[in-house]
Parts: sequence; C-alpha cells; structure tokens
Amino acid sequence: MMHRRAWLAIAAALVPLGTVLAGEVPLSGIIADPVAARSDYVEQCGGCHGVQGRSAPASLPELRDRVGYFMCTPQSRAYLIRLPNVAHSRITDNQQLADLMNFVIFSLGGTSAPKGTRPFTGEEVAHERQFALSSVSLTAERARHVESAIRRCGAPASLRRFFPNPAARQ
Ligand code: HEC
Repeated sequence: MMHRRAWLAIAAALVPLGTVLAGEVPLSGIIADPVAARSDYVEQCGGCHGVQGRSAPASLPELRDRVGYFMCTPQSRAYLIRLPNVAHSRITDNQQLADLMNFVIFSLGGTSAPKGTRPFTGEEVAHERQFALSSVSLTAERARHVESAIRRCGAPASLRRFFPNPAARQ
C-alpha cells in the first residue's frame, strides 16, 4: 500500500490535468510514474488527440471518458495496442508504452473502463504490437469493437461516432 501522503502528492500533481481522482483504479497502483506517462502521451499523441483527450473539432476519435470501453473484450483491448500510431510508436520500451496506454485508459478514459479491468502489461504490449493494423482495415475493426462494447459493456450508442456530441465538430 502506498502511503497516503505519497498518493496525495501524485493526486495534487494530477489535479490541474483534469484527471479523474476518485476513479476505482488509482493510477498510483498501476503506473510507476504517472507524470512521465502523461508527458509521453502529450508528446506522442497529444498533437492529434488533444492534451486532455479531446480532439474536437478535428475528425479523430475522442478519447476522453470513452476510450476505456474498448477494454471490454480481449479482441477490443488488443485493437488499442494494434492501432498503427500505438504499435508503431517511437517508444520502443514496452513497459513505457504500457504505462502510456494505462494513462490513456484509466486517466483520460475516466470511468469508461469496465469494472475490474486489468491494466496493460509490458508483455501484452510486446505481443500485440507485432500485429499492427493497417489504416485500410481500421474502420471495419473499430466498428466491430464498438458494437461489442455497446452490447456487452454498456458503452453508449454515441461511441459509433468519433465524438459524443456531433455539434462539437465544425
Ligand atoms: C497523426 C495523428 C495521430 C497521432 C499522432 C495518434 N493518433 Fe490515435 N488516432 C488517430 C486517428 C485518425 C484515429 C482513427 C483511426 C480510425 O479508426 O480511422 C486514431 C485512433 C485512436 C484510438 C482509437 C479510439 C477509437 O475510438 O477508436 C486510440 C485509442 C488512439 N488513437 C490512441 C492514440 C495514442 C495512445 C497515440 C500516441 C501513442 C495516438 N493515438 C497517436 C490519429 C492519431
């Protein structure tokens, strides 16, 4: 168990980032260095997906409060690691990439990951990134995983679109 004061220090560091602190999965237990994981995200992904996981008005999927739904099935969690920008990331250290993805799921994703979701491990990332998807198959892949998340994990129907609120798009 991490000392309460250490957890509060991490929480304090994360508050300005709009992180969900009262989530069921405390980041301190699953990411060795949440601050490093966040800055890896900002550097590698934030330019497209937004520092806070809000990509509107760009036509990219919104990660904020949604991305965790893809942890619904083994196939859909594999999809997250097989995404071209994730599998081919410049981050070659698999544990570091797992930490980045756990930041994405459990921090940006808020409480969207199903209860009891296991965080990504370095081993899982090492395995799945060998099966990188091509951009050609992405639309069909995404649609398949969205349907299973809606059917099996209570994801909202709006997950079929890239944004929860179409009005956010220009
Ligand atoms: C050059 C812009 C760009 C960068 C950089 C980028 N992505 Fe993406 N990402 C996209 C696009 C475009 C899609 C949509 C792909 C599709 O389904 O057509 C996407 C899809 C996703 C999805 C799937 C979400 C969903 O709702 O289906 C996740 C998760 C994701 N990206 C995470 C990341 C992470 C993590 C990084 C950094 C390692 C990253 N992306 C870097 C453009 C980018």
